[in-house]
Amino acid sequence: MLQGKFVVLGVTGSIAAYKAAELVRLLKKAGAEVHVVMTSSAREFVTPLTFQVLSGNPVVTDMFEKPVRWEVEHVSLADRADLFLIAPATANIIAKMAAGIADDMLTSSVLATRAKVLVVPAMNVNMYLNPITQENLSYLKEKGFYVMEPDEGPLACGYSGKGRFPEPEKILKFIEKLVGVSRDLNNKKILITAGPTREPIDPVRFISNRSSGKMGYALAEAAVERGGEVILISGPTSLQPPPGLYKYIRINTALEMREKVLEYYGWCDVVIKAAAVSDFRPKNYVEHKIKKGDSASMFLELEKNPDILRELGERKQKQFLVGFAAETDEIEENAVEKLRKKNLDLIVVNDVTAEGAGFDVDTNIVKIYYKNGSAEEIPKMTKKELAHVILDRVVNLLKN
Ligand code: CTP
Repeated sequence: MLQGKFVVLGVTGSIAAYKAAELVRLLKKAGAEVHVVMTSSAREFVTPLTFQVLSGNPVVTDMFEKPVRWEVEHVSLADRADLFLIAPATANIIAKMAAGIADDMLTSSVLATRAKVLVVPAMNVNMYLNPITQENLSYLKEKGFYVMEPDEGPLACGYSGKGRFPEPEKILKFIEKLVGVSRDLNNKKILITAGPTREPIDPVRFISNRSSGKMGYALAEAAVERGGEVILISGPTSLQPPPGLYKYIRINTALEMREKVLEYYGWCDVVIKAAAVSDFRPKNYVEHKIKKGDSASMFLELEKNPDILRELGERKQKQFLVGFAAETDEIEENAVEKLRKKNLDLIVVNDVTAEGAGFDVDTNIVKIYYKNGSAEEIPKMTKKELAHVILDRVVNLLKN
């Protein structure tokens, strides 16, 4: 999987530094060329010689030592990297990276790289859970760094909890996934909508639907991994935005979603409308909480929300449009009708009554209908896998 890949491994001063030696062995076995950079505290735990022998390359430890080749070493490693790993990563290196500090070889190299950077924290549970460390990690994720969650269990410091360095095999699997994804959406501008909308009735009540946003968020994450510049416009969900987004915009109502989507429509090459937009909203918003009163029933008048995707279809220029539809019956007829009416390039349809499809589950079973009249059944898979399948189709069609 890693044949010919240039991996730079930064080792920092954690007791787990010795486990990084096994990681080097596995990376080499998978075909990678590995170059190790150690901080001075890492050298207190393991000698550079261990990493030199295992990687078959000189270990870089100091910014000012005589370089092996006359290149600016930290820039040369940073440039050549396909993947930059910091494993194990201490709270200290995480804080320095978040602050943009470059005061040794490792921090300078990581600041200079344009490769994907994967941080694998390992530390005492309280240091890991400290809000400062957590905020630094969130900030790094927001900036497009990848962070692998530490394992839970007994720690070298005597405590037990989250902070263990994951087994090297597990880290390797994570890396293979990260590197395996091709950057075929490089420079493509992609707008994705996700989640439900909320249509307020009064200050404490609203109309909404069961959409969790998982499909849209999976699409956004996958599109970022493939190099896309992604704007995610999301209704209310409990999900964390994936790292590396160009913009993350939260909205509540269909009208707010429409406004934001139209604002960026001219900017984008691809629009994927995974959001479950409420078709109707209460006609009159009541400023004060509605009292139940004595009447046995109540009447709530609704008015239609604009069909955002249909509007996009009407105003379509260069944009590639992907729609979603959740259906319960006459699936094919409904899908084909929506594809035509909304001027879409493809529509992803799921039968929400099927097991393993639809709302708030991690898997989906869908059928994709294309503008040229063809259709394709996609087997049950995770929403993240499905996100990549959909993007594969988009990339292929964009080539034609
Ligand atoms: N959609 C939209 N604006 C709306 C309603 C739907 O942009 N007001 C988009 C959805 O994001 C989705 C697609 O249109 O990509 C299909 O949504 P769906 O609710 O299945 O279709 P509707 O056109 O609303 O038809 P119906 O609810 O009658 O099945």
